[in-house]
Amino acid sequence: MTMTVQQIIDGTIRKTTILPLPHDRTCDHLIIGDPETEVTGIVTTFMATVDVIRRAHELGANFIITHEPTWFTGQDDNDISWLEGDAVYDRKRALLEEYGIAVWRFHDHMHMDPRDGIYRGFDEQMGWAEYRMPPQKDSDLFPKGSFDGCYEIPETTLEALAREVQEKLDMPVLRAIGDPKAKITRAAVLVGGGSLGLGVEQMPMELMHQRDIQVMLCGDITEWTLPAYVRDAYQLGMNRSALILGHEKSEEPGMRHLPAWLKSIVGDIPVTAVSAGEPFTYFLQKQSDRTLPAEESLSDAAERLAKEGKRELFAVDVTVTEVRETTVEGTVYRELPFEGTFTGPLLSGVIGPGGVDRQIMRPGEEPDICAAYDLIGEKDGETLRVHVENRNRGGHWKPTLMTTAPALATLNGRDCEAILEGRPQGPVVHIFG
Ligand SMILES: [Fe+2]
Repeated sequence: MTMTVQQIIDGTIRKTTILPLPHDRTCDHLIIGDPETEVTGIVTTFMATVDVIRRAHELGANFIITHEPTWFTGQDDNDISWLEGDAVYDRKRALLEEYGIAVWRFHDHMHMDPRDGIYRGFDEQMGWAEYRMPPQKDSDLFPKGSFDGCYEIPETTLEALAREVQEKLDMPVLRAIGDPKAKITRAAVLVGGGSLGLGVEQMPMELMHQRDIQVMLCGDITEWTLPAYVRDAYQLGMNRSALILGHEKSEEPGMRHLPAWLKSIVGDIPVTAVSAGEPFTYFLQKQSDRTLPAEESLSDAAERLAKEGKRELFAVDVTVTEVRETTVEGTVYRELPFEGTFTGPLLSGVIGPGGVDRQIMRPGEEPDICAAYDLIGEKDGETLRVHVENRNRGGHWKPTLMTTAPALATLNGRDCEAILEGRPQGPVVHIFG
């Protein structure tokens, strides 16, 4: 199938069922490129950053469909006079021209789609489509009969929901306000700039009040509006909380699921969703990646894990013997050999030779950390070994235990979690399973 940029734009707008908005009433413009260009491949993205443009070129795509601006303001290409002579603009534009990539913004029509294309992707990513609450009858916060971002979800806790969001939206860091143990059955999601109130600052707070919302999942925030309201409510002992996803993470699923939706329009033209990634690099306090989160003590963690039927299998007392570190093009490679002892109801003994914690810190990415070691102990005159690979996933330590000892065979494949108790010489690793 061959299609031009313009044919794809027209087909996409048609599929939303929204009548094309007049040029001066929307930001959905062809930001750069020739509408008659034949499209070789499409990239959908939250935002056409320089890295996304480079990736599109690598993929052989010459058309980027972006949700948010290319030229850094809501006005986008309507007024770029302020960028005249600006090196960032000049070089980004030159890159697009060099690669021959057209960029079209798909924002207003996408949100106005009766299911709202951004929420549709969010629902698919979270598996929440069936939890949408029907519109409120007597409220003027949203246009009559339209979805207001509220969901009735199976009972969970703030912490469990936060972990689920982190996992499903791929977030190394997720900020929250509220009690981690709070029971949650009713959530509101205001994606992107929606959590700023769409021109009415108090709207998200009125929504929480009207719908008795326990947790608000936010895009952008102003710290002294909604977050302040939620924090006061929480400090008053009320069941109110918030998860601050940010604009990118809250809206990206919409663009991630767009390729499947575009299929009926573009046929076999390849469409790839490319993540724009979060704009941030997170600097953790030096010790914090090796210690318990402030709100969860070891006894709290043990209690939480006991409810999941997990008990402490091993307490591994680690002493780091050396720190080796190299940095290559911004990526830090760190190796921490260690030794030590361990105790537990099944086996006690020492950490075998060769135990090492390998850490790879790529800029802008979640650190890749994995400790691999052997636990060696004696039982009934026999030497038993358990190999441990303890990897950090989304802030949680998920150890895998492997053993050939028949007496310990139940450890193989067991769903474990480790809690690290930080100390200067190295952590005590409590393995629950
Ligand atoms: Fe947005």
